Amino acid sequence: MYTDLKDKVVVVTGGSKGLGRAMAIRFGQEQSKVVVNYRSNEEEALEVKKEIEEAGGQAIIVRGDVTKEEDVVNLVETAVKEFGTLDVMINNAGVENPVPSHELSLENWNQVIDTNLTGAFLGSREAIKYFVENDIKGNVINMSSVHEMIPWPLFVHYAASKGGMKLMTETLALEYAPKGIRVNNIGPGAIDTPINAEKFADPEQRADVESMIPMGYIGNPEEIASVAAFLASSQASYVTGITLFADGGMTKYPSFQAGRG
Ligand code: BGC
Repeated sequence: MYTDLKDKVVVVTGGSKGLGRAMAIRFGQEQSKVVVNYRSNEEEALEVKKEIEEAGGQAIIVRGDVTKEEDVVNLVETAVKEFGTLDVMINNAGVENPVPSHELSLENWNQVIDTNLTGAFLGSREAIKYFVENDIKGNVINMSSVHEMIPWPLFVHYAASKGGMKLMTETLALEYAPKGIRVNNIGPGAIDTPINAEKFADPEQRADVESMIPMGYIGNPEEIASVAAFLASSQASYVTGITLFADGGMTKYPSFQAGRG
């Protein structure tokens, strides 16, 4: 637990499912004031709100699609209106789907780039604008992936969005460091979340992915949420412009394990 996160206002996009849900609940446990953004499933968002409140935090839910500029503007405005300020913006909403690149439609490409990269840009921009105008040493955390550095066939749109997020975060970190605003990425590996549910429910596919993870297991959402809590806390006060990989070693060239090569 990080005592300085108590009463901090934290926005989590895509907060009703998967990593977003785990992070929203973790900030609830930290006694933060959590704004749970969701796009479609109000029931799931209300469930997360309830869990946050049971853990001792406060929460509101706000519907919004991160690809829509007015929705992201409204999200930050609502956070400030309801909880009085903004301290931490977590741009987590993301989508992925496999398609051979030569068959990928422009529509599908745009959908993934708009959600993962442009959505994170809009969230970062709105949060940073608020921080600058109100002289707040705030914090932006973007949910990237091991695929900001590992190429991923069939997922060219996803890999491009995460690769873009790497330099977006580094650039924003550099630009706003003089104001004490920190901007970082989290780079999860393979984690048990709804986005992966089908793939990991198949024992063969699950074993195949596990074989690519030096630590030998697929991560839990809570293991990502604890990274978010650390980055948001003052314990990470000198950390900006990084991607903190939480991937069981997936980015460390596991095929070279045991001296191969
Ligand atoms: C993706 C997962 C994938 C993992 C490792 C993540 O960014 O969301 O579907 O299993 O990377 O490849």
